[in-house]
Amino acid sequence: MKAKTVFFCTACGNETPKWQGRCSACGAWNTIAEQPAEPKSKSGGTRASSGARHPGRAKPLHEVDGSSELRFGTGLGEFDRVLGGGAVRGSLVLVGGAPGVGKSTLLLQICGYIGQNAKILYVTGEESERQLKMRAQRLGVNGGSFYVMAETALDDILDAAGELAPDVMIIDSIQTLYSGAVGASPGSVVQVKECTMSLLQLSKQQGVTVFLVGHVNKEGAIAGPKVLEHMVDCVLYFEGEQASSYRILRAAKNRFGSTNEIGVFEMLDKGLSEVANPSELLLSGRPEAAPGTCVTCVIEGTRPILAEIQALVTASCYNVPRRNANGVEYNRAMMLLAVLEKRSGLRIAANDAYINVIGGLTVDEPSADLAIILALASSFRDKPVREDLVAVGEVGLTGELRPVTGMTMRLAEARRLGFKTVLVPKNAMGKVTVPDGLTVLTARNISEAIAQALS
Ligand code: TYD
Ligand code: MG
Repeated sequence: MKAKTVFFCTACGNETPKWQGRCSACGAWNTIAEQPAEPKSKSGGTRASSGARHPGRAKPLHEVDGSSELRFGTGLGEFDRVLGGGAVRGSLVLVGGAPGVGKSTLLLQICGYIGQNAKILYVTGEESERQLKMRAQRLGVNGGSFYVMAETALDDILDAAGELAPDVMIIDSIQTLYSGAVGASPGSVVQVKECTMSLLQLSKQQGVTVFLVGHVNKEGAIAGPKVLEHMVDCVLYFEGEQASSYRILRAAKNRFGSTNEIGVFEMLDKGLSEVANPSELLLSGRPEAAPGTCVTCVIEGTRPILAEIQALVTASCYNVPRRNANGVEYNRAMMLLAVLEKRSGLRIAANDAYINVIGGLTVDEPSADLAIILALASSFRDKPVREDLVAVGEVGLTGELRPVTGMTMRLAEARRLGFKTVLVPKNAMGKVTVPDGLTVLTARNISEAIAQALS
């Protein structure tokens, strides 16, 4: 039978049965190419998968091996936390981030620790072996079973992996890999897809834990097809502002754990160092007695983190006042501005309003609503929020305050960092333990909250 050929878009990976001048999925012109028929059939059983094939058979659930996955520590507690308590054997982890954010540094650092007990193969397509060595020396990474390879040809990498049988493999980066089976250039959708598929098979069949570095495109998504994210077990994003030395690692997908955890690092001259106490860091340098700032406590994964919310409300010189929200979802911020206008009687509609969460943190919990409202009101009235106050609570459309979960944890964290007062919704304190030395103020709605906080 004649092998069927398909056409695909080299920009987005969309497949079509016939050639078109313009891709119907992404709208790009002249990007449709014919998929060579032969490699296609080969790629169904790429080299890594050419081993034993088991005939398909469904199993009763009770026959399935139910032992929990084997995990190992990476030596960086913050990294382990984001992975859900260590790296899982035989998993495929994609680490995405902007150039220069520290992906290579992060992975090289964990090699130093993992290399003490396991065999590592670090494949770099971006640096020479010498450059890698120099960086490793600077980071103090050396290990007997740490192998490096500057290579971009996928087949050679798979051969080396077969020979070496590493426990952990690092591919830096997936966009530099090249498989001879497909004719496209490295970094193209087809190449990235093909190479990831082969690495996936390698990791599942040989139980190798593979960390892939992925570059991020202008829109902030991992460059390459969306299917890349579906193929891997975990997608981690490493983020940070160019100007600041702090870096946040967050999970966008995790088959072995929660995606709420974040890991915080600081980039020093000796590499990345863990920040075990993000609250302290986020609050350092907080202005005293300045209007327009309020502290809240959000829960990221299992950890309470204090965050400072700042707002600036100023007279507008535009016909349509400007509104901007950083670190808070824009629509939520607009809703809170509307609630503030309507329910508390502050006439802010004609003002520009800017909201910002300090430290590049993204707050997506409704528990931060109250602090946003207070920061806005404080800036508008030009009156600081009372000292040592942490505000926690969700704000409804009628201006009512609603309780949030995890109060005990939040209060303990507030107290630990020296705050003396918390402002919470009236009925939030059911079974909550209040730490010694913490005064709890309650309010039923935003007007009461503003009255208490700005007194
Ligand atoms: P790198 O890990 O190469 O980034 P990526 O692989 O994500 O592109 O990190 C590069 C940046 O980190 C570079 O700007 C220099 C800085 N850096 C330090 O500040 N200290 C260090 O010890 C190292 C290794 C890098
Ligand atoms: Mg790099």
